[in-house]
Amino acid sequence: MKSLLAQLRDKVSLAVSAVAGDIEIKGAILVPSQNPKFGDYQCNVSMELAGKLGKARGEKVNPRQVATAIMEKLEVSELSEEPEIAGPGFINFKLKNDVLADYAITMLRDERLGIAKVANPERVLVDFSGPNLAKEMHVGHLRSTIIGDSVARFMEFEGHEVLRMNHVGDWGTQFGMLIQFIRTTRPGALENPENFEIADLEDFYREAKKMFDESDEFKDAARRAVVDLQSGDEATLAVWKVFCEESLKHCHEIYGQLDIKISDRGESAYNDMLKDVVEDLKSAGKAEQTEGAWGVFLDGYKNKDDEPLPTIVQKSDGGYIYATTDLAAIRYRFAEQKTDKLIYVTDARQKTHFDQVFEISELMDWAPKDSMRHIGFGMMLGADGKPFKTRTGGTVKLKDLLAEAESRAGELARELTPGLSEEEYKEIAFAAGLGGVKYSDLSHGVATDYKFDWNKMLATDGNTAIYILMTFARTRGLSRKAGVDVDSLVDATDLARLTEEQEIKLIKKIASTPDVWQGVVRDLAPHLLLNHLYELARDFGSFWNSCPIMKLEDEELKQSRLALAGGVGRVLKWGLSMVGIQTLDKL
Ligand code: ARG
Repeated sequence: MKSLLAQLRDKVSLAVSAVAGDIEIKGAILVPSQNPKFGDYQCNVSMELAGKLGKARGEKVNPRQVATAIMEKLEVSELSEEPEIAGPGFINFKLKNDVLADYAITMLRDERLGIAKVANPERVLVDFSGPNLAKEMHVGHLRSTIIGDSVARFMEFEGHEVLRMNHVGDWGTQFGMLIQFIRTTRPGALENPENFEIADLEDFYREAKKMFDESDEFKDAARRAVVDLQSGDEATLAVWKVFCEESLKHCHEIYGQLDIKISDRGESAYNDMLKDVVEDLKSAGKAEQTEGAWGVFLDGYKNKDDEPLPTIVQKSDGGYIYATTDLAAIRYRFAEQKTDKLIYVTDARQKTHFDQVFEISELMDWAPKDSMRHIGFGMMLGADGKPFKTRTGGTVKLKDLLAEAESRAGELARELTPGLSEEEYKEIAFAAGLGGVKYSDLSHGVATDYKFDWNKMLATDGNTAIYILMTFARTRGLSRKAGVDVDSLVDATDLARLTEEQEIKLIKKIASTPDVWQGVVRDLAPHLLLNHLYELARDFGSFWNSCPIMKLEDEELKQSRLALAGGVGRVLKWGLSMVGIQTLDKL
């Protein structure tokens, strides 16, 4: 099922080609109009085409004449009212109301909302979350987790086979410190790792760090402990394993709470491959010795003195680094896991790292560069615009943030909707609290820093989860009032009787959903989707205020308006599910 924009674009393309002949057009053939005054869609190619025709003919060509020539070839009466030429040569199109109503209802009745799966599904690996396992997850891990999950959901909906991977930091130097701490304070643990337990990961880390900072002797021992670990010493590995499992258990509690599926395959899994990776780089002549270390000199990387800057793959002490592990992971993912595409979601500061490993992987023929993509996100700031911290300046544990979100949403629900059961408040607190945290993050362009503000998150008006959830609940409330499920009315009633301005506006918004989706998956940009849901909710609000429903005498019109509300509910529910937010029947 083609969207109305796509159908009209096909027709306009034919007319444009008829006029353009061999001339190639660079600009978009048809775009949504910014201002409803100019109809729904605009064709702006006349200017470009006039310039090119003029060049070919060696004389000035008037864009309005080109527009007129295109108009003569247009056969769009099935879809659009008579097009109009405006300004220097724009052609404006207004969709016919009956075409719109017909498309919208057909689309709404389709469980995929008229969005086809991709013709060639691929195996797409999304690498996200990836906390370093030493502490519990804190707010610094939130964005990768939430954005990565949405990206995975987008790819799944597109019909791809998605591998959701958690590349946890389970092998770094922090483990030397922790292991040495265990050796010093709990020597029994090394003999009986099965009895070793960690009561509180945070306290444990803090104490170990204190010892590390206070004693040089401990520091040296910690460094040796990393070597023991990485060289496979059994007893060391056994406690390390207990530690990782405990830490991962905490992570998965959070994933469970956020309704996020992900499989762990940490840095340690690539340990055995690192040596080979570096050997291969050396024998291919790509890695060179540099100040005792081994590095790859890529074009375009310079230090501040304008000297070539290597990407280090092996340190002078023989140790491997973050980049080496990622190279091994890329090779493994393409060769063994048969991945077609790889998407990484990390903070924006890692951009250079990924540029470099992508480039090296291409040089080595491990994977083509354009099959890998890095999504870099900005920082999560507090309402004051500074990095998000606790009142005393500490890092905020994710567990605490989510608990606070739930309790605040619960309080709000009690204010907004008195008289519900405890069970219902609990459900609302969970969905609106966690949904609110996700929504605050995803409603902004991913690349920029964003301010997390409790008041904004819980605002009942504006581009917020609460506003969308309340709109959805309002459509469900209509079902209760009308004594008929408005959602099922979508399948039973059409929208042809709806001709009021606010109704048409709302139907157009619904009908544009598949076009919006194209942008969302092209840019992997959740905010484009949430923005659309927000506009839809807002247009529903205007419809609600200007088009009476329950007091209508005309029963058929009433049914159609109820069906329209049901349709809005369908799009909102679908859209929220694409970012892992659950809807509520009451709010
Ligand atoms: N552990 C890393 C961090 O905390 C994120 C891992 C991202 N994935 C990767 N393959 N490098 O920044």
